[in-house]
Parts: sequence; structure tokens; C-alpha cells
Amino acid sequence: MSLSRLFSPKFIAFIVVLSAIPLGIIISIERAQPATHVYHYHGNGWFRECLKWDSANNRFIVSFAEGGLGVIPLPKKEDLGAPLEEVAVVKELNLGRNSSLGLTIDRSRNRVLVVHADMLGNRYSALAAYDLSTWNRLFFTQLAGLSDEKSFADDVAVDAEGNAYVTDVRGSQIWKVGVEGKLLSVIRNPLFTPKEWYKTFLGLNGIVYHPDGFLIVIHTSSGTLFKIDLTKGEEVKIIKVEGGSLFMGDGLELLSPTKVVVAGGVSRLVESLDGWNTASVVGTFSGIKHRIATATTVKDGKVYISHALGMGYPRKKHAIVEATF
Ligand SMILES: *[C@@H]1O[C@H](CO)[C@@H](O)[C@H](O)[C@H]1NC(C)=O
Repeated sequence: MSLSRLFSPKFIAFIVVLSAIPLGIIISIERAQPATHVYHYHGNGWFRECLKWDSANNRFIVSFAEGGLGVIPLPKKEDLGAPLEEVAVVKELNLGRNSSLGLTIDRSRNRVLVVHADMLGNRYSALAAYDLSTWNRLFFTQLAGLSDEKSFADDVAVDAEGNAYVTDVRGSQIWKVGVEGKLLSVIRNPLFTPKEWYKTFLGLNGIVYHPDGFLIVIHTSSGTLFKIDLTKGEEVKIIKVEGGSLFMGDGLELLSPTKVVVAGGVSRLVESLDGWNTASVVGTFSGIKHRIATATTVKDGKVYISHALGMGYPRKKHAIVEATF
């Protein structure tokens, strides 16, 4: 990892957390018997920002910080002791030092959408789609480049028509990309910028599409949750959340129409009984903190949290931890 890469906001967050935990404690946590089910897998790199369960194909799909996508197939008969193996399936040769970050499965079109962005300089953001069976690239759309404001595309959700919504964690805006890959519009709103400067360093991040026609989005460093109603001209409202803070919330996933999981150092289960106008934190889960929880996915009704950081020598081992709330 180059030194300058340390200056991107996400890596600063990683390092702050890492340096706060003494090595001895990390080793003892790593050795301890986990309280919930864990899938370990061998990866080819240290950083894995996003991971989603692909139920139709009995595998996880994972994005590589060094660029590209992999799958982690589950064996028919699970051998409980042995780590799973990551297999690279997408390698974009023109990406240079861009990372692959948030991804979402667009099941009805048998494809996966993934964000590629320049984590180091925040000078490039793109969205690509790949066929889930052949891994052929279906489109590749640049969202921002050198001549634009700094940006950092981070996560993506897809609506019923196949439009994609990509969050910009640097510029706190959302790019809307059509089903064929055309950049359609940019959703901006004054509510996306907190008044306090110290809450602005990590902006819009995790995003999910709710089947009732709206997006739920989190602003990481203010912990604000937004509802963006696509049936009402992309109307933006703050979801009033009670019962706990969502500060430093990262990836999101819908567990049910009334429940959203927010991944983070502490992952939270958030419930809404009024169509996501208000919500409450109804559960928390602290997994293995030093690996930096960044994404969440649902497998067979169970919530799993994936972590950015792999550990181990000579082979890097990553952890996907079941969260119980
Ligand atoms: C990211 O990819 C674009 C498009 O290929 C390229 O122009 C840019 O230099 C890359 N950025 C980095 C940091 O490698």
C-alpha cells in the first residue's frame, strides 16, 4: 500500500481504529472462539470493501480494493473447519489503482452492478455492470473524472426498473444511471451536507432500494438516515431515528421491508413501522472490531457482516461474521 493511500478518508478511519487497539488484544480476539457463525475465506488481497450473498448460485460475491470482483463458492457439504477460497472473476485492465467498492446484485437482470473509484485521490468514479453467469461486462460508465469536483463513488443500489443509484461519499450526491448504463441525473440536496464541519468528512455511503419505491441512504459521519422517495420526484427526507445513534454507519441491507441492517464498528438493526418516516435502533452487534466492518448481506434470513481487512500469513484470511441482534 502506498503511503499516500493512507490519506483517503476511509483509510484514515481504518488506521485510527487499528492504532487504537493494541496488537496483543487483536491476537487474543483472533484466537478466541467466535460467539456466532463465521465464514472464513482466503483472499488474494488485504482489503475487501463489499460482499453480497448470491443465493441463486450458492456463493458470495466480493469486490477487491486492488480492482476487480471475485466469487467465494460454498461447497455443497460445508467442511466446518476449512476456509473458503476466493476466485477472481473480473479484472479490469484499464483501472490502474482504482478500487472496486460497493456492489449490488440485480437479480431480475442476472447481473451485478459495481462501483470502481479512486480511493487515493478521489479523482475518478465509475459504475459497471457484469453478467452473473459469464462475467461479461455489460456497461462501464464514468461518473466523474479529472475535470470534475473530487468524488468517491462508494456504494450502489438498483430499483425495480434497473436504474442504479451510486452514492458519492466525498461529494455527498447520488448519481442515477439508467438500465443500459447512461448517466441520467445527479441527486443533490442541502440536507446531504450537515451544518457542522466535523460531521462532513464521510458523506453519503450505504444505500438500499426499498420495494415500495424509495431509497434509504446513510450519511456516515453524521449518522443521518435519508429516505429518497422515487415515486415523489426524488423527494429527500431525514428519517427520524430513535433509540441509538447511527454514527459511522457504512453498508446497508434490507432484512425485511421494515428492517434495515447498518454495518459498522457496531452494527445496528433499525426498524420502521411507518414506511420509513421514523425508525428506531432495535439491536446492536459488535463483531470483530479491528477488521473494520464495512458491508452486510442476508443469507437464508441471517445477517452477515463482512470486513474490509484481511489478516494472516502467508495467506490472507477474511471473515464474514453472522450478526445476532
Ligand atoms: C482510474 O481509472 C481511470 C480510467 O481508466 C484512469 O484514467 C485513472 O488514471 C485511474 N486512476 C488511478 C488512481 O489509477
